[in-house]
Parts: sequence; C-alpha cells; structure tokens
Amino acid sequence: MARIRTPLSDRLGLRYPIVCAPMFLLSNKEMIVACAEAGILGTMPSLNLRTREEFREALAWIRARTDRPFGINLTIKLTDPERLMHDLETCLEFKVPVIITSYGNPSELARRAHAAGAIVFHDVIHLQHALKAQEAGADAIIGVAAGAGGHAGTTSPFVLVPYLREHLQVPVIAAGCIATGRQIASSLALGAELVYLGTRFIASTECGAEEAYKKAVIQGSPDDIVYTDAVSGVHANFLKHTVPGQGPADRSQTQQAIQQGGARKWKEIWSAGQGIALARDIKPIGAIVEDLVREYVDARAGLPALEEG
Ligand SMILES: Cc1cc2nc3c(=O)[nH]c(=O)nc-3n(C[C@H](O)[C@H](O)[C@H](O)COP(=O)(O)O)c2cc1C
Repeated sequence: MARIRTPLSDRLGLRYPIVCAPMFLLSNKEMIVACAEAGILGTMPSLNLRTREEFREALAWIRARTDRPFGINLTIKLTDPERLMHDLETCLEFKVPVIITSYGNPSELARRAHAAGAIVFHDVIHLQHALKAQEAGADAIIGVAAGAGGHAGTTSPFVLVPYLREHLQVPVIAAGCIATGRQIASSLALGAELVYLGTRFIASTECGAEEAYKKAVIQGSPDDIVYTDAVSGVHANFLKHTVPGQGPADRSQTQQAIQQGGARKWKEIWSAGQGIALARDIKPIGAIVEDLVREYVDARAGLPALEEG
C-alpha cells in the first residue's frame, strides 16, 4: 500500500503519520511491536509497568523484536520524581526515539532527551500551555481536543488544530475522536502532521483491555460518553455506564474505586472518547491500520471535484 508522508512522519521514519496514543493500564509492549510492523508509531506510558525493572524488561523485549521507532509516555506530575528520571534514562539507554511528556513542565526531560538524540512530544488542551511547552523544548505539540479519550479539552478539533498551528513554530499533532481514515484526511487538511488515536486502538486484539471494555467501545454512541472531573479531579471522558451516578453500573464497587483512588479508578471506570461512535470492530492493529489507510485514500478521492468558473 502507498505511504502517507508528512515532514514529521518522514523525520520519524514512519510509513503512515499515525500514532497509537499512550493509554494508562491499556497500552502494552505487544501493541508497540504490532504498530512498528504496521508502519505507525506505537507508544505506552512507562507507568504501565509496575516497577523500573519490569519497564526495562519491556523495552528490551520490544528492542529484541523491532528496530523501528516507538514512543514512551512519561507523566511528569503523576510519577514519583525518582522513577520519572530513572524511566527517562532507561528510554535513552534503549534509544527510544520519541518521549511523550504530559501533566507538567517538560524542560528538564526535553533537555536530557535532546542530548541523547530523542524527539519530545508534549500534550496540551490550550494554546497557552502549548506555547510554554514549545519554549521548554517540545519538538511537536499534541492538541487534545474535545471528545478525546482520557483527559480531554473542550475545544473542537476544527479550531484547536489550525489555531495551534497558526501560533506555533513546531508541528501540531491532532488528538481526539479520530477513529477513521476520513478523519485522518481532515486532520491533515487542518494542518496536523501526525494523528494521535487512543480510543480506536482500545478495540484492537493486542490491547490489554478486558473484552467487555472493547465491546463497549465498538457498540457505543457519543451519548454513552460523559465528560467529568468527578473521577480524578481533572476533566476526562469516560464510558458513562461505568461512572458511579451516571449509569446502571455497580455503584458501590465504582464508588469504592473512586475513594481508593490511583490505578483502581481507571481499572473499574473505563475511559474512552466520542470516537467510539466510529470504532466498529475489534481487530489486530495491522488490520486497523489497513482500514485507516484505505479510508484515507477513499476520502481524498471522494472529495467534490474542483470546477473552474
Ligand atoms: C483509557 C485511556 C487512558 C489514557 N491514558 C493516558 C496516559 O496515561 N497518558 C497520556 O498522556 N494520555 C492518556 N490518554 C489519552 C490518549 O493518549 C490520547 O490523547 C487520546 O486517547 C486521544 O483521543 P481518542 O481517544 O479520542 O483517540 C488516555 C486515553 C484513554 C482512552
């Protein structure tokens, strides 16, 4: 199949300008290798591995299977500072080409990553944070739009992507609600150099989500998503039926999860974005990428013809 190229996807050596976004508790090393084989950028949060040793083993496992690029997400304020620096050093030792920083100031991480030749992406929901992250050394900014899975913003992707692009010198990566090739075509038309898909890849064979979670993703509509700060204190999108007070879930269990906090919350209260409306099947990552590329090609070919006069 054809390649789809942007300056940033070329810089990274990707076949397609697509990132399988990091997802707490769900992304895993198998997804990263499947993404590498499919020609896109696989990622995961370092915290998906419980200990530093397990994280190191996961990187060694990935490196034994692919020399293609992948990314690791370091969640700055959510990670114990010692573990954070340790995970960064482990990434650099294994020559992880992309470090994705979120929830905090990336300056120090960017300085160290650049010294080792890595590229830094940072995610934001506002221009103001994007400008700070650019100043702090981020090489590309991920604009997380309204409706995204995980912690999401409130700005429509129709505005966020071109707005960030207009005000930033570094490339923009579009995140939020992208689940089809048609949306990839529109994101690139809006000025993004990469697209960042989380929810669509929950419904992949390789993803660590339990089967009922994957099924909820492929069966849902936008009305099944709730945007709330009740779970973690930061606004995020969740499958409504798993949030206490929002649906018929076992409330005592989920209420208990909220009270106990930490990873337990995200295990029992399932996050996903409005893109569930367009994710229709559970498939291996390679097959999802083939669909995305075919849909992209069809979307471009299906645009109304430009008539003179
Ligand atoms: C279950 C879940 C967990 C997530 N965990 C993280 C995380 O640990 N770190 C992070 O930077 N983003 C996280 N995100 C956000 C994604 O990286 C990405 O921005 C988002 O999924 C894109 O929107 P989409 O889900 O509509 O495709 C998470 C998203 C989901 C759905």
